Formats: sequence, structure tokens, C-alpha cells
Amino acid sequence: MRKSIRAFTDELVPVALVQSLVLAANRAPSSKNTQPWKLILVQGNALENLRADYMAAFNSGKAPAFEYKYSLDPLPEAFKKRATDLGKAFLTHKGIAREDKEKRKEHDGENYRFFGAKQVFFLAMNKGEYGQGTFLDCGLFLQALITELHNKGLGCCPQYSVMAYPDLLHKHIPNSENLLFLLALPFGYPKADSVVNAFESEREPLDVFFRVVE
Ligand SMILES: Cc1cc2nc3c(=O)[nH]c(=O)nc-3n(C[C@H](O)[C@H](O)[C@H](O)COP(=O)(O)O)c2cc1C
Repeated sequence: MRKSIRAFTDELVPVALVQSLVLAANRAPSSKNTQPWKLILVQGNALENLRADYMAAFNSGKAPAFEYKYSLDPLPEAFKKRATDLGKAFLTHKGIAREDKEKRKEHDGENYRFFGAKQVFFLAMNKGEYGQGTFLDCGLFLQALITELHNKGLGCCPQYSVMAYPDLLHKHIPNSENLLFLLALPFGYPKADSVVNAFESEREPLDVFFRVVE
């Protein structure tokens, strides 16, 4: 079963393997075969410099400046409940009390260190060259990539949270001025015996989201 992985070993996934899974994901369908996705792998010194800036930004309370809005604000009631339930279940799983502000900040801060991953993909598309459906195309590519990683015994976790500081992405990723960054995907070999990786999110039962008409 696939699930999000948020703790990794320090072993690098070899570039040849990365390229083969990216090529496989590139078979994802897109409307009229437009293939609007761009994918950038950041690792090594470039990632460490980016990570340092991200953690400094988070720790200093830098104001988020998302370049695209992911969801409605406020969320529809059913979504809000699922999001709240997830947050509570994850904190409980990690043994963090709701009122423990310091531990909760540390928990949130894990996002801004990309969960310690040694390799992070950034998914993007060209600024000004998208409609609503382009997000769908990029989502299909993302899921194909996630599945490829999973099938090779690798783990990953999609991250919208880190889109809070696009200026840092533009600063550390050369020739990215014309890109709209959509998501980060830290990935790698899952750390065994990790409490955080043992977490399993809930799902709604079939009848909530599926029906047959005949
Ligand atoms: C678009 C998107 C953005 C996400 N952003 C974050 C994030 O910023 N931080 C995080 O820890 N998880 C993030 N997630 C992971 C979700 O919380 C996770 O997929 C969901 O709870 C279901 O759990 P599972 O992936 O383990 O099945 C994101 C997932 C998606 C699809």
C-alpha cells in the first residue's frame, strides 16, 4: 500500500534510476498530449543551501507568499473535518499534545527541512501557460511519478506547504523565473523503524465517493 513517507535514509537514489522512473512517469496522459509539466531534481549542495534558507525563513516567521492558491478558504465543511482529523491523528501518533506549542512548531518545521530528504523533486509549469486543466495534467504526472517511486521501493511525500516561499526556489534554482512551482516531492529510501513512517491516514468508505448509475 502506498502512503506518504516522511523519513529517509541518507543513501542517494542513483541518477540512472531516477531518470528511468521520471521517463516512465512521463508516459502520463495529458490533454492533447500537451505535457505541461516541468520537473527539477535538487540534491547535493544546492539542496543544502535551499534547505538552510527554508529553515531560516520558517524559524524567523517569514510571511508565506503562495504563488497559487491550493484550496478554498474556508474549506468546505467535509474537507475541513478530514483535514482536522488528519492533523489530530498525526500528532497523536507522534505523541505530541495539542497544547505543546514547541513540539508542534518542530513538527511543522519538518516540512521546511524537506523531512531531511537528500533529494527533492520540484514540480512546476510555465507561468502564464495554464488553465484549470493544466493542473489536472500535472497531477496525473505527479501521481505517475509517486507510483513509480513506490514500485521501486522508494518513498515520498507531496508538499504544498513549502510553496510558501517561492522566492527561495527562484533564488536557488537557476533559470526558473518563468516557472510556477506547484509542489515539492522529497523522496528516497524509507527509513525503517521510523515512527513517522508508520502513520497511516484514514479513508472514507466506498459509498461516500463512488456510485454506479445504470
Ligand atoms: C497536493 C498535496 C499537498 C500536500 N502537502 C503536504 C505538506 O505540505 N506536508 C505534508 O506533511 N503532507 C502533505 N501532503 C500529504 C497529505 O497529507 C497525504 O497525502 C494525505 O494525508 C493522505 O495520506 P497518505 O499520502 O499517507 O495516503 C500533501 C499531499 C498532496 C496531494
